[in-house]
Amino acid sequence: MHKSYKIAVIPGDGTGPEVVREGLKVLEAASKKFGFKLDLTHYDLGGERYLKTGETCPASVVEELRKFNAIFLGAIGHPDVKPGILEKGILLALRFQLDQYINLRPVKLFPGVDCPLKNKGPQDIDYVVVRENSGGMYTGTGGIMMKGTPNEVAVQNMLYSRFQVERCLRYAFEFARRRNKRKTLALSGKTNVLTYVFDLWERAFHEIGEKDYKDIKREYYHVDATTMWMVKNPEWFDVIVTENLFGDIITDLGAMTQGGMGIAAGGNINPEGVSMFEPIGGSAPKYTGKNVINPLAAICAGQMMLAELGESKAAEAIENAVMDVTAHKLKSLAAGKMGYTTTEVGDLVAAKVAG
Ligand code: IPM
Ligand code: MN
Repeated sequence: MHKSYKIAVIPGDGTGPEVVREGLKVLEAASKKFGFKLDLTHYDLGGERYLKTGETCPASVVEELRKFNAIFLGAIGHPDVKPGILEKGILLALRFQLDQYINLRPVKLFPGVDCPLKNKGPQDIDYVVVRENSGGMYTGTGGIMMKGTPNEVAVQNMLYSRFQVERCLRYAFEFARRRNKRKTLALSGKTNVLTYVFDLWERAFHEIGEKDYKDIKREYYHVDATTMWMVKNPEWFDVIVTENLFGDIITDLGAMTQGGMGIAAGGNINPEGVSMFEPIGGSAPKYTGKNVINPLAAICAGQMMLAELGESKAAEAIENAVMDVTAHKLKSLAAGKMGYTTTEVGDLVAAKVAG
């Protein structure tokens, strides 16, 4: 009996369906080679469905999604829908309702990929950001009062409970241990200004580290300094843990240092529940339907999904295949400049995985 995984597929908007198609092609090749089955169910969540029905993510769909082993997501965002509606109604709704409290974002420069950092290569850029994914500013508390008057005031709070902070830190410590590279965990915060929230983070960080993770070295950086060192000395980093909004911002910077949005993948992880894997680049409306978008980010999201499901050999094979393709085939990672179509890049990786 082969192992079988139930996967919900949400191609979504823009170039989402094109990159998901290639991601699934590679996952299929891996499943054949490594002897497991993927049982796929497609969901049409996204801008088109919203424009037709007014629905973003109905409660019944969330309930169905709870029954899967994982979710594979393309992109959410539609040029005819006001910003915020689909992001909040689908992406954030799923993160919150499925309690995907970790956003795992590897920053790894693959061979052959152009890096905008002078004199830095694959040996220098290989770290992982553990972004808290359930709290902070994203909680959505606050409001806008006296709107449209000269006294208008708006407030949005960075909210954290000890519980949220602690489960995120524990995940990050465990991750640094499992990764087994430099065994260093860097907390990125802002203890010099956000003295309440980061007091909580910093105390929890040292308490937990001191008590249960003596084998992991602890470092602290202010978030502004973190961005500086991510550019100047990325080789310092092994695992970075940070709060939600800071993590959102620094991982876009990280993505650029690893070759851009064409390659950057992430996992919205609930270690005890259903996790969701996505290329982090968005729906890229201007490239939609042209078969020119880079599918490697989606392929890497598939690789992360297999790793989380426990198919580590298959995950490793996909990463090696992607590295082979970046090293020996692609001219660039940018849409339309790869020297291959979206389909062909998927074919190259799938063939390498199968071979
Ligand atoms: C991301 C995105 C989302 C976020 C948006 C689309 C809500 O930027 O996944 O990084 O802010 O988390
Ligand atoms: Mn982002």
